[in-house]
Amino acid sequence: MLRLGVNIDHVATIRNARGTPWPDPLRAARIAQDAGADGITAHLREDRRHISDADIDALMANMTLPLNLEMAATAEMQVIALRHRPHAVCIVPEKREERTTEGGLDVVGNEAMLADYIAPLREAGSRVSLFIGHDPAQIEAAARIGAAVVELHTGAYCDLDTEGRHAERDAELVGLTQGAGLADSLGLEVHAGHGLTFDTVGPIAAIPQIKELNIGHFLIAESVFTGLGEAIRKMRRCMDEARA
Ligand code: PXP
Repeated sequence: MLRLGVNIDHVATIRNARGTPWPDPLRAARIAQDAGADGITAHLREDRRHISDADIDALMANMTLPLNLEMAATAEMQVIALRHRPHAVCIVPEKREERTTEGGLDVVGNEAMLADYIAPLREAGSRVSLFIGHDPAQIEAAARIGAAVVELHTGAYCDLDTEGRHAERDAELVGLTQGAGLADSLGLEVHAGHGLTFDTVGPIAAIPQIKELNIGHFLIAESVFTGLGEAIRKMRRCMDEARA
């Protein structure tokens, strides 16, 4: 079955807008669990613009779903991940000025550094995932350095859909499909995410090698209107229908 990881970063974004204790990301995680999420994803950014260190403490201490901790490959984040030993660690590129994670990791250009960086995380028992584009060279480099998982960046595919650039969107979908096939053939578990909505999730969920989708912003946006539980249940239905 295709797993759904719910990214709760933007519950914290709303909380931080007013400096109140609410809405509480842990409460969102519990609602996500009840609604059928298979995991919770949270990105501890260097600038702590949404998820805080205290959020990670609370999620690790009080949640039964597996945590996928997204983070940049910095020394500070490695110490935090080794202290918590979450189920999964997803390494993402991070720029301070970006609004969200814009592109994939350059594994080819940082192969030796990333190999050294992920080794202790693997030894500590976390499944290491690399957030990359569907470029075959990046996928092959991820396999060479011993990552367990690659998460393919679906942001460009979603943006092209929103902009009505359908020929380019379809070409991007072909790239993602081929990338998933290559990664799977190299023994990598394949995940995907970024920018997915009810409208764009179907063709991605239909790629048979993909085992997990990580979805956040749209679900939190939709929850304003329908509640988080209903938004997640509807996303699950969209995924399951596309798989079937
Ligand atoms: N996967 C990764 C690696 C991400 O960085 C993000 C965004 O934090 C997501 C998935 C979820 O993207 P979105 O919030 O656009 O659904």
